[in-house]
Amino acid sequence: MKPQRELFGSRGAVIMAMAGSAIGLGNIWRFPYIMGEYGGAAFILAFIVCGAFVSLPIFLSEAVIGRRSHQNTFGAMETLAPGTKWKWVGLLTVVTPLIIVSYYSVVGGWSIDYLLKSVTLQFRPENAGQVSGMFQQLMSSTWRPLFCHLVFIGLCAVIVYFGVKKGIERFSKATMPVLFVLIVVIAVYSMTLPGAGAGIEYLLKPDFSKLTAQAWAAALGQSFFSLSLGVGTMLTYSSYVSEKENLLLSSGGTALSDLFFAIIAGFAVMPAVFAAGITPGEGPGLVFQTLPYIFASMGGSSRLISAVVAILFFLTVLVAALSSAISMMEVGVAYLSEEKGVSRGKATLGIFLFAAVLGSLCSLSFGPLAGVSLHGLSIFDFCDKLCSNFLMMIGALLFSLFVGWKMKKSDVMDELTNSGKIRHGRAFAQVIYYLIKFVAPVAIVLIFVLGLI
Ligand code: TRP
Repeated sequence: MKPQRELFGSRGAVIMAMAGSAIGLGNIWRFPYIMGEYGGAAFILAFIVCGAFVSLPIFLSEAVIGRRSHQNTFGAMETLAPGTKWKWVGLLTVVTPLIIVSYYSVVGGWSIDYLLKSVTLQFRPENAGQVSGMFQQLMSSTWRPLFCHLVFIGLCAVIVYFGVKKGIERFSKATMPVLFVLIVVIAVYSMTLPGAGAGIEYLLKPDFSKLTAQAWAAALGQSFFSLSLGVGTMLTYSSYVSEKENLLLSSGGTALSDLFFAIIAGFAVMPAVFAAGITPGEGPGLVFQTLPYIFASMGGSSRLISAVVAILFFLTVLVAALSSAISMMEVGVAYLSEEKGVSRGKATLGIFLFAAVLGSLCSLSFGPLAGVSLHGLSIFDFCDKLCSNFLMMIGALLFSLFVGWKMKKSDVMDELTNSGKIRHGRAFAQVIYYLIKFVAPVAIVLIFVLGLI
């Protein structure tokens, strides 16, 4: 007999937890620099199109599998397609988030370090020249990023250990609204900086010549990453959703808040980038290298305001990163405790140790292990590329094929409309079904092939 499973308490709780998973470093750290590389407003449009036609259907595929089975990824496949090879999809999606959480925690660790730096007032005007060097210095040292990474993953483990209701639900409910307020405040502040106008224009005036095949590929990849798709995170969270819940609304609500948050984060970062005369295509260091520089230089007018903004900003990054990382850990913990009969505590400890070790290697790959190369990439980059260009795409493709081609259409429609009880959602559910069956898989294969070229 499987242990009795917990369920999320309400729609609000479901959306908060899912949004907590979706909204993270993907929005604040990844979205602005990827957008910066592919041309601002036009990229945002591509991101929205991919989100509506590919990611939302994938999201609902995971939601259908999760809620129908009320199982972890592995058990879900065994329940819905017993005795078939589909269970290996479940296993693939147990492994992928473990790898992601390992390197994601390294970036989470950097945000702890930057929070400490802002609390100890290191982003002062007289330091402005050294601020961008601080990032290099942190990345290349051994113990500090390692320690911060371990603190980050340790915090995640504690939250996950307390389980769905007491840990994840309570944490997300308390932090997500604060997060929204914080990012809006920072965006407003950023837009009032002298010279911010160019950044606002960059975000609003699309240049369609920038929409190359690569830009579309980047937009889809970013959309998956941002919505935590293709690795069973949303599947696992959906398995804690009650039969009464409207999946179309909770998935749509999550996707919209993630989009909203990404765009606000864009408005927080881009005007500031332009105000400081930095190029938007700066790359992955954008948030960690440019914003502290801005915090430091604006200290000329009021040191207090500059310190408060810096602290608020990195606190936001940290909280957003934590609520995403716990969702990745939860996938493995659910698998170990339900399939292998391991207690929740031991499962959490096991995952913690795995992520601590692999993450440490990723962290060290910027410093002492910089010479180690896998397929020409550092350990950190290798893990990232392996997951975001490969494993996540495969996972998402398989989820859509499973729901579109393996499951009975009537079962899928049942799940999307709560056995026909959601009348007004029927037409929409039909559309979603065909997006899942045809549009999403074709688009993913196309993007995958483009990515290889
Ligand atoms: N979506 C999160 C973010 O934007 C990261 C994340 C959480 C994730 N779970 C995931 C990414 C699963 C890929 C797969 O930061």
